[in-house]
Amino acid sequence: MPSRIADPSLAKRGELSYNWAYSHMPTLTTLIERETPRKPLAGRRVGVCLHVTKETSVLVMGLARLGAEVHLTAANPLSTQDDIAAYLASQGINVYAWRGEQPKEYFDCIRQVLSANIEFLMDDGADAHVEAHKMGVHGILGGTEETTTGVIRLKALEKDGLLKYPVIAVNNAYTKYLFDNRYGTGQSVIDSILRATSLLLAGKTVVVCGYGWVGKGIARRARGLDAHVIVTEVDPLKALEAHMDGYKVMPISKAAELGDVFITATGQTGVIRGEHIEKMKSGAILANGGHFDVEIDVKYLNSAAVSKVEARPYTEEYRLKNGKRIYLIGQGRISNLVAAEGHPPEVMMMSFSNQLLSLIHLTKHHSEMQAKVYDVPQTVDQEVARTTIEALGIEIDEMTEEQKKYAESWLL
Ligand code: NAD
Ligand code: ADE
Repeated sequence: MPSRIADPSLAKRGELSYNWAYSHMPTLTTLIERETPRKPLAGRRVGVCLHVTKETSVLVMGLARLGAEVHLTAANPLSTQDDIAAYLASQGINVYAWRGEQPKEYFDCIRQVLSANIEFLMDDGADAHVEAHKMGVHGILGGTEETTTGVIRLKALEKDGLLKYPVIAVNNAYTKYLFDNRYGTGQSVIDSILRATSLLLAGKTVVVCGYGWVGKGIARRARGLDAHVIVTEVDPLKALEAHMDGYKVMPISKAAELGDVFITATGQTGVIRGEHIEKMKSGAILANGGHFDVEIDVKYLNSAAVSKVEARPYTEEYRLKNGKRIYLIGQGRISNLVAAEGHPPEVMMMSFSNQLLSLIHLTKHHSEMQAKVYDVPQTVDQEVARTTIEALGIEIDEMTEEQKKYAESWLL
């Protein structure tokens, strides 16, 4: 099938962007170069449903170099970098993705990938895995899942006895969530708010909803820019952690009156609702860093507002009946990929090395695996850590023979 992209003439710009990412993802490129002579994916048909970014292009070109036939679609209707889609299409990758897809088009593109007789499926958020199950697609031997929300959905599918093939939860590798979710989202969500609003964070009150890995990263970066940070949580342990990390912790109903900027990072639905928005200061800014656009009640904003204008690219101004102005970044969708470029390459190199090595693992071991959600093999996680340490030129110590013995003995 021919690619479906916005504008093939953007390919040259996309190539420059690909080159930039390639030269800043040494873990991934080292692994790709190491595996190239063996061609471990020769003849494999791989469906990929990831945000179509410059970092993803390095992974996708790598899969093709290792022998795979790749069919690529986007993990969000608004996250595609059209120049990258054009570059990949110009390199013979089957790409069905453009920025600003309508909901039907978004699922049509996913279905197009699923109709390409794929054997393996890489996903981010589980829309493609779920669609494959709804369509009753046969022939998928295994898959991977990039993000927390997707892993939760797939575990629910497994619990209901409906999961049809093994899936490796890439998100759950240490070398993924400790870096991507925390440092990657921390920087890129703040980056998206700065790009979209061009305002100062110093001295502002930033409310972070959710103190999981993503929330921790965002709170820390906001504090680093001298904002006053409030955390909201539902889990007492996480709330305590936020308290001991020095943040103010309170319910969203109280934080609503105090915040200048609100950032959701829970993976949950209805976190900021109409009753909270009504209480906010005029000029409050709302952004979502979670996977789906369900955390902020955008429907409420659309129904309660007397007017809505695009104040700046990716910044919508809603005027409420009570006269207040509320700003929403990127339609309440994953703001770092909509209003910025997603995580930096140095973080994505670890996430995508886990993707690459997990896929290779599946090609070798799928027949011994069950239709379950698996963690990334420890050997893969360790290999990604080791390769990254080496790539960054960081030297570490090695245990002495005496220490190795000591670590394994009970008689001291
Ligand atoms: P996590 O499970 O580590 O953290 C989520 C936290 O939110 C938990 O501590 C939970 O107790 C809390 N929470 C749940 N409901 C809440 C509510 N109503 N109010 C306040 N807190 C609540 O998950 P994570 O890895 O931090 O991921 C969070 C979301 O971000 C997921 O949707 C994930 O898929 C997404 N994600 C996005 C990016 C990105 O690029 N924007 C990257 C990684 C993950
Ligand atoms: N998720 C978060 N940032 C990303 C990026 N730069 N590329 C692909 N997926 C991402």
